[in-house]
Amino acid sequence: MRSPLRSALRCTAALAVFALGAVAPAQDYGDTPYVQTPQNVVDKMLEIAKVGPRDYVIDLGSGDGRIIITAAKKFGARGFGVDLDKRLVTLANRLAARAGVADRAVFYTRDLYDTDVNRATVLTMYLLPEVNLMVRPKLLASLKPGTRIVSHDYDMGDWPPDAQLELDAPGKPVGRDQRSKVFYWVVPGKAAGKWRWRLPVAGANRDYELELDQRFQKISGSLKVDGRVAALQDARLTGEEISFAAVLDIGGTRLRHGFSGRIFGHEITGKVRVSNGPAVSNARWEAARTELREPQHASAPVRSPWQ
Ligand SMILES: C[S@@+](CC[C@H](N)C(=O)[O-])C[C@H]1O[C@@H](n2cnc3c(N)ncnc32)[C@H](O)[C@@H]1O
Repeated sequence: MRSPLRSALRCTAALAVFALGAVAPAQDYGDTPYVQTPQNVVDKMLEIAKVGPRDYVIDLGSGDGRIIITAAKKFGARGFGVDLDKRLVTLANRLAARAGVADRAVFYTRDLYDTDVNRATVLTMYLLPEVNLMVRPKLLASLKPGTRIVSHDYDMGDWPPDAQLELDAPGKPVGRDQRSKVFYWVVPGKAAGKWRWRLPVAGANRDYELELDQRFQKISGSLKVDGRVAALQDARLTGEEISFAAVLDIGGTRLRHGFSGRIFGHEITGKVRVSNGPAVSNARWEAARTELREPQHASAPVRSPWQ
């Protein structure tokens, strides 16, 4: 992929000198060069992730620290950033102190590949597209379901974003049009497999069997009751929140079922709304997993140092 960040590699030396004053040009570590995210884009990244005081934000490749410092100062969060360039780390810690958030925004000289990201509730990055693909398996494996990821300018290949937007980026040091893209994902929980539960419907207890396939946050499958099978409609997985609908003939009546709930390991608890025209009944829904399948996360086309 053509990348303004990569073509920026050469001119970042000049940018780094500008940003760091007397400090020598940024080095090429074989991956992402130092280019700042414009402040309005930083704000938008933190807004799309709905960052708040309960969040712990980690920025992979933190540069002058602007994302974590903004998360702390403007959004009340805490967190840390890592960067290979120790001069940038020194600068970021100095800027955090100047902003009065040194207790909540900390920066370490560390390779992002050696960084434990488990604590994050929000993870941010402005890295090269191929680096995004290299970190993707680690993010999917080590971030908690429900963790939000925001990336400036680059997507994560065939992992579709949950949201994306484009905005003006005045002062952006790379690219021709001074525009930026923001991509947003929620780390999906594990829904794939078979699930069972029993519900009193149309005058009898009925056994339900749900079969779910999963690729990233996309789920699909079927629901079986009394030997009848229906394809799922409107199936959604956001972190561990799951919802889907199915229309089934039960006891001679066409019933629409709308399920919503939360996955806790091998259990789902939530509610179901069963309707036939204006006749509606609501009930508690508790499902147990009878067969676990690994979600199909297509492997990235590049090898990760984490693998
Ligand atoms: C495009 S800059 C983004 C800076 C900042 N996050 C922002 O958005 O303004 C990417 C940063 O990643 C750092 N970096 C590159 N490879 C890294 C690695 N393997 N581990 C840690 N930091 C790295 C670079 O030094 C650079 O500061």
